[in-house]
Amino acid sequence: MVEFALPANSRVQPGKVHKAAGAKRVKVFKIYRYDPDSGANPRLDSYEVDLDNCGPMVLDALLKIKNEIDSTLTFRRSCREGICGSCAMNIDGTNTLACLKPIEDIKGEAAVYPLPHMPVVKDLIPDLSLPYAQLASIKPWMQTQSPTPPDGERLQSPEEREKLDGLWECILCFCCQTSCPSYWWNGDRYLGPSVLLQAARWILDTRDEMTGERLDALEDPFKLYRCHTIMNCTKTCPKGLNPAKAIGAIKEKMIERRL
Ligand code: SF4
Ligand code: SF4
Ligand code: FES
Repeated sequence: MVEFALPANSRVQPGKVHKAAGAKRVKVFKIYRYDPDSGANPRLDSYEVDLDNCGPMVLDALLKIKNEIDSTLTFRRSCREGICGSCAMNIDGTNTLACLKPIEDIKGEAAVYPLPHMPVVKDLIPDLSLPYAQLASIKPWMQTQSPTPPDGERLQSPEEREKLDGLWECILCFCCQTSCPSYWWNGDRYLGPSVLLQAARWILDTRDEMTGERLDALEDPFKLYRCHTIMNCTKTCPKGLNPAKAIGAIKEKMIERRL
């Protein structure tokens, strides 16, 4: 009989415990720690955080841990306003932005892991080289062939502009990308919800003049059609966007041009 087993280095071991001496209101953060260069297995470190001396968001707690308890903890962040997308991670079982996730919304201990199903660079930092290469492949910029109008502006009506609502707001955090089961299993060939939402953003832009070429590039059994409308992407988006709907809009365009 075939036996399946996880690779030895994927087993997460119990880690160090950091106590908060004298704190009255304590929250425990269980945080995934992994340094692939060390040769050691990942571990789950436990940090007690004094909530009376901490900001309200999970990112505040991570910064407090890094600044005051354990400077080796590694994670990405920049804007702390839900704009840059760099603090995306899996918190309390859901992919989200640490800077937008209130600590008080988490019942009991707070489990913090990197975005799932991606190689880990260190601790909470996933290697996003693949989705960024996939993003580059859809040419996420306006492509035109006609001469630029004399005043330099390519105009849209308010109705045309409205078609981009729900798309332009994407901050490319990849929370949806890494929550998608189709992307977990076929990430090397399926473009995934973040990248397809970006593709829709240009396909639906009336100023772009390469719609046909963009659709041709997606006419492939894997790149687009591996979306099975499971909707994890839409459920997890911390910006309230709907990548599944954007993917549906691309499929509609595919059908329209065949009619
Ligand atoms: S709707 Fe499509 S893109 Fe979204 S999680 Fe499901 S399969 Fe993935
Ligand atoms: S659609 Fe939402 S979850 Fe996906 S990359 Fe954009 S902002 Fe992040
Ligand atoms: S730090 Fe920029 S989105 Fe969280």
